[in-house]
Amino acid sequence: MANIILLGPPGAGKGTQAKRLEETRGMVQLSTGDMLKDAIARGTELGRQVEGIMARGELVTDEIVIGLIEDRMNDGAGGGFIFDGFPRTLKQADALAGLMTRMGSTLDRVIEMQVDDAALVARITGRFTCGNCGAVYHDVTRPTKVAGVCDVCGSTDLRRRADDNADTLKTRLMEYYKKTSPLIGYYYAKGQLSAVDGLAEVDAVADAIASVLDKG
Ligand code: AP5
Repeated sequence: MANIILLGPPGAGKGTQAKRLEETRGMVQLSTGDMLKDAIARGTELGRQVEGIMARGELVTDEIVIGLIEDRMNDGAGGGFIFDGFPRTLKQADALAGLMTRMGSTLDRVIEMQVDDAALVARITGRFTCGNCGAVYHDVTRPTKVAGVCDVCGSTDLRRRADDNADTLKTRLMEYYKKTSPLIGYYYAKGQLSAVDGLAEVDAVADAIASVLDKG
């Protein structure tokens, strides 16, 4: 069992690889982005609170996401947690360390997914996901086998995200560089950081992550 963080800018492939790890290793993906989008889709008070912030590409408050993660961690994960899109600030990273300690658990690896900004624009503007099972696709690099039908569950509810446009991506990237990228140094200093080439093909990235995890 391993608890890991997938760290990288928007479009780095965190969600894609988290889903792979769920399938291959029985790990549990904890995506704060998905939790927030779910709250918006359900029209909850939290959803109303964060909708505008997310549409602009800004980060929601640390308190909100730390609360979401704490709730989900209490449910447990046999194969370990994959933190996807969390932590995104130093305060969130400290809070996660505290939660781990309180649960008698450890953070085993932080995997930085290295990509360049030019590739991110193409990835983000071509992305669509299944509204039913969450499978992630791309117009060019990973289309569905049958147009308009999810390969995994057969749903025709395929969606594009409100924040997946070139303008909002600029804000999301700026938020990443200002507030999240300092975590690379933070985890390096703790001896927990490994890096993989996020620009490689999806299978090659998955292999690189597997070899990091298998090294322990
Ligand atoms: P969130 O949902 O976490 O979005 P994000 O970090 O911007 O990451 P993405 O989901 O855009 O990208 P990804 O790395 O998962 O890439 P994917 O695998 O889909 O956050 C959304 C918002 O919520 C934030 O802006 C913020 O407002 C709020 N929020 C969330 N967490 C927060 C927190 N902790 N604190 C504060 N606010 C928070 O891949 C992208 C595309 O590329 C896909 O189409 C995929 O098919 C394709 N692709 C993936 N890998 C490859 C590959 N190797 N080769 C070719 N194509 C690939």
